[in-house]
Formats: sequence, C-alpha cells, structure tokens
Amino acid sequence: MWLNSSKIKDILKNEVFYCNFDEEDSVTLRLRSEIVNWLGLKLTTKQEQATIKLEIDNKLDKNLEAYQIKEQQIRGTSSKGVLYGFYAYLRRKLIKLPLEETSAPQQALRMINHWDQVDGTVERGYAGKSIFFGRFGSNDNTDKGSFEVKDIGTDIFRNDFTRLEMYGRFLASIGINAISLNNVNVRGLGTSLIISPYIEKVSEIAKIFSSFGIKTFLAVNWSAPKIIGKLSSSDPLECEVRLWWSKVISHIYQVIPDFGGFVVKADSEGEPGPYQYGRNHAEGANMLAEAFQAYQGLVIWRTFVYNSQTDWRNRKNDRAKAAYENFMPLDGKFAENVILQIKFGPIDFGVREPLMPLFGALKKTNQLMEFQITAEYLGQQIDLNYSVPQWLSMIHFSNYGQAKDTVRDNSPVPSNSGFVAINNVGMDENWCGNKLAQANFYGFGRMCWDNNLNAEQILDEWLKLTFSEIDAITQKKIFTILISSNRTYELYNAPLSVGSMMVPHYHYGPAVNGYEYDRWGAYHFADCNGVGVDRTVATGTGYTSLYEPSIAKKFESLEEIADEDLLFFHHVNYNYILHNGKTLIQTIYDQHFEGVSCVKNYIKVWQSVSGEVDEDTYNNVAERLNLQLCNAQNWCDQVNTYFYRMSGIDDNQGRQIYK
Ligand code: GCU
Repeated sequence: MWLNSSKIKDILKNEVFYCNFDEEDSVTLRLRSEIVNWLGLKLTTKQEQATIKLEIDNKLDKNLEAYQIKEQQIRGTSSKGVLYGFYAYLRRKLIKLPLEETSAPQQALRMINHWDQVDGTVERGYAGKSIFFGRFGSNDNTDKGSFEVKDIGTDIFRNDFTRLEMYGRFLASIGINAISLNNVNVRGLGTSLIISPYIEKVSEIAKIFSSFGIKTFLAVNWSAPKIIGKLSSSDPLECEVRLWWSKVISHIYQVIPDFGGFVVKADSEGEPGPYQYGRNHAEGANMLAEAFQAYQGLVIWRTFVYNSQTDWRNRKNDRAKAAYENFMPLDGKFAENVILQIKFGPIDFGVREPLMPLFGALKKTNQLMEFQITAEYLGQQIDLNYSVPQWLSMIHFSNYGQAKDTVRDNSPVPSNSGFVAINNVGMDENWCGNKLAQANFYGFGRMCWDNNLNAEQILDEWLKLTFSEIDAITQKKIFTILISSNRTYELYNAPLSVGSMMVPHYHYGPAVNGYEYDRWGAYHFADCNGVGVDRTVATGTGYTSLYEPSIAKKFESLEEIADEDLLFFHHVNYNYILHNGKTLIQTIYDQHFEGVSCVKNYIKVWQSVSGEVDEDTYNNVAERLNLQLCNAQNWCDQVNTYFYRMSGIDDNQGRQIYK
C-alpha cells in the first residue's frame, strides 16, 4: 500500500535513530522494532551518535496524541504521539515535504469496523476473505449475497499475524486508534467471541493492535445472555442479565486489559434488541455501560434502527425519519461511556444522501459519524469511486451551525466522539480488490486526523506515496480519474439523489424496481408523470422538518433545493425544469449518457498509463474498468429505457434508448 519499506529504507539509510523514553510500553517497543526490524535501520543507545531523536514530552500539547516533527527530531505528548509523528516523518520524507510539522488529531476516536465473520467470509466484503478469521486458502470475493455463517471447526482464527502486523502499521500510519473485528450482525460462533476460549485468541490480535496504539472492540449479539449464557431472557433490567454481562466483561478485561468495548447493532434489520422487552435504547445501552464503567470501556451503539417490514403501500412511511424518531427523544439519556454510531445519511451510504438530521440536533449524547469504505453501494471496488469528496461534504454540512466539528462539539465527553468506517480490506493481493480503492482507506484515516485537508490534497498525498516511481504527468492522469469518480458513479447510478434502484440484497448493477414494492423502505415512486419521494411538510412525509429551520426551508422549496438533492425530497414531473435549465427527463437521460462517456474516457486515460505503472496494478485496474463500463452501460440502458417507457418522452439528442 502506501508505505513502501524499501523506498523508506533507502531514503533513511544513513540516519541513526535514538529513542529517549523514560519508560517503555508496548508502543515504544513497537517503535524500536519498526526502526530495526521493519525498516532495518540503525538505532543507537548513545545520544551523541544519533541523527534523529525520538522523545516523549508530555508538555508538548494538551492532546496526548499530538506530535511535533523537526529535521532531526520526532516528539510526541505520549508514546502514541511519537508513533504518529514517526509515520508522519516517513510520509513527509517520501513525498519530500519540509520536516517541520506540529499536529494533533481533530477526532478523538478514529475507528475502523470490520464486518468479518468467523467462517472467514466478510459481509459486504469485496477484497477476498477475512484477514482475521477462517482457515482456508481461498481468496474469493465472498459477497455472493448469502451471509450465512458456516461452522468451520475448532480454530476459527486465521492466525496470520504477519499480515495483522502489516495491517496495524497501515492503520497507525493514518492515525486509526480503534478497531472492531467482527460483523455487527453477530451470528453463529461469532456470538461466543466474547468468552473463552475465543476471547483468549482475540487477545493475541488485540496485543498486536495495541502496540500500534489501537484499541480492539468486538461486536456483540444483544441476545448473548440467552444464546450463550442460557438465561431465559436478555432483558436489560433483569438482575441476572446485568450480572451475566458484568461477569463476561470483567473476564474480558482479565484477558485484554486495554479492551475498547462493544459495538452493538440492536433492534435493527432483524437483530435482537431492547425493544423486544419493551425497553428503550438508552436502557439497553446503559446496562452495558454500567458493566464497562470500572474499566473505562465504551459501548458503541448503532442508530441504524428502522422498520425493515415497511408497508410500501403507505406513502407516509419514511425510513429516512427512523433514526431521528428513535434516538432524538433519548438525547441526554445515555451514560457517559455510551456513543451513538450514526450513519452519515438517513438511508444507507448512498452516493447522494443529505446529512442525517441527528447531526447538529443531538446535543447531549456522544456521537460517531459512520462511513462505509467498503463500497457496497458505490461500485463494490469494481467501479472506481474515490469517496472522500462525498464524505467531506457530509462532515462540512452545517445543521444547526457547527460544520466540521459538530460531532465533537455536541458530544458531552468529546474524547468519546469521532468518525468510524467499515473498511474495505481482505486477503486480496492488494488488500482492497482494486488497487485504486486503497485511496479511500487512506483518505478516511487522513480526514479523521484533519478534516481541513481537502479531497484533492489527500488524493495527491496517496498517489505520491503509492506511485512514487511514476512521473508527475502519469500521477496527474490517475488523479484526474479518481477525483471525478464519485460524481461519475452518481451520474449513471443515482442522478438527482433518486437512490435504491439497484439489484436487491447484492447492491451492484441496476434493477429499477428492485426495492419498489418490498419491505425495506427504499422507494422512488416513479409513475407515468414523474419520480421522487415527497418528503416535504406541505404534502409529503414531513422529513424536511427534522432539520434546522433555514435548512428545512431550503429542502422544502423547489426553488431553493439543489438539483442534486431534488428527488430525495420531492416528487416532480418529467417536464419539470431544473436549475440547470433542462427538464427532469432530459437531465436523467443526459446524466446517464454522460456517466458512460466518463467511464469510456477513464479507459482511454488508463491505457495511456500502460508501461508507466507496474504491470499488476495496470492489469488489475484495466480489468475492473472494463467491468465498470459494462455496469455503467447497463445502468444507462435500463434506467433510460425505463423512464422513456414511463414518460413516453424522447431524448432530445436522439441517442440510443431501447423503446
Ligand atoms: C446495510 C448492509 C447490511 C448491513 C447494514 C448495517 O443495510 O446492506 O449488510 O448489515 O447496512 O449497517 O448494519
């Protein structure tokens, strides 16, 4: 990926490192080992021989993770600060930036979720099997739409510790400090990861991550007291249930003293939760929080709670309102060590969604904004989709006025807030299935650290680190493709924020009515007159009212709403004239054709880098671009044909539509 050890070694071969640490911990030991074992560089015990000094200065900053770099010095407020400074030093060396920087992370929690399952499969994974679980050699793309967990025998762990060490390094180098290992849909043996003998194995993984400054978390099944504890109930107010959890948690801390806590998906898409017992989510989360209190552990509680048995016949039902309705009334009711993990948008990681209105509105509850690096709805690492521009636009969107730091500023315990994302890595040779999809992994970490960086800067950094051997012109070509790729995907996938026209469950490729008459609450309501979801207060579901009044007004009004957001909020006729001066139907046609032509252009540009980038990367991306073209063409043909047949209106350019 972006840390090319031989290149770094070459640049630093004449340097002699010296570690000035009063005390050693697992992170300082890791630092020493990074210098000596990973990079094979010199480390001296004599200060006067040193050319680069590493030291801890607890007065450097009030942030314990801060660092300061100078030409011959890397300092940190703590050992973790030095670690981040060390990778920043390497990054700056590699891309030839001045060795002068003082920096502290903006987000306290910078977390990665894995949706890995104990049989080695990865829910929504597009880069081969799990790096944590499973014993088999195969590196298939596992997402075939079935997420059943198989029993694979006694040792469910992959035990590939070398790979995990590499992974820990990648994570730390971009500032990640928390990770959950297993899928939030906790099934089969996954439920038992929190108890012996599995938790002892988890501790071996946690130890590696810990040395990279990363805390390990596990996702838990809400019904674990019943499923593995054999209790008659999992009711959070039952004494024996509370006792059971506190015993389990106390045992975890004996085995993993710096364990991070639990991630919980409760009352969501069929997963069990407190509603089953007539309890609310605060009661559910606080019960666990109490058991964690003595250990400073966290309960990360997801707000992805909606009715997945929606009646499509009732147009007033609106899944977009669900998280707000379930959680807003509980603002201020959660314990200090509970954090709500909230998806950035109100539906499900679509290529165009407005910001989830809970952000800005919640003022008394700790929060994490959730992103999806694994490209479930964004082309599945087949189609190119550098998503950092979209993520940053969510972070910078101001609801109730606190763009950028809304999440931190509205969390009563700011150290219990931040960003989290489901990662896109697996056993695939290049970790991400598509080499260029690494940019999203890198970009997520960098934007957690500093969301004042823009998408262009982050991409530029990643390209320079990853493709250091190629010239600036070639780098620029790849840059041009990637920087426009999120928009290109939107053009042929879901223009004007229509969303949800994809193949059900699998979520790749078009199926215009795939979800239309189903129970999942993701509709477009196309008819012979128009398309879009009326979420206005005046005539629709009233969702717009969940935003700050000035924003609500903008979304409510056809005059004020941006074209890109139109169909998420309004049902409009095909002949309606957009701000772009064209009719809705013509815009639908144009954007789909434009999407296809952008992909054709990407292929041409990519062909022109042949011989410049290494052969594996060239072939990997070329193969995927060809698949992307088929996908884009398919979207274009199906969506345009569908809307032609619905509306009977011709494309004014006379292009190919299948009548
Ligand atoms: C999406 C995704 C599921 C996942 C869920 C979640 O709906 O399709 O696979 O379990 O999100 O975030 O929990």
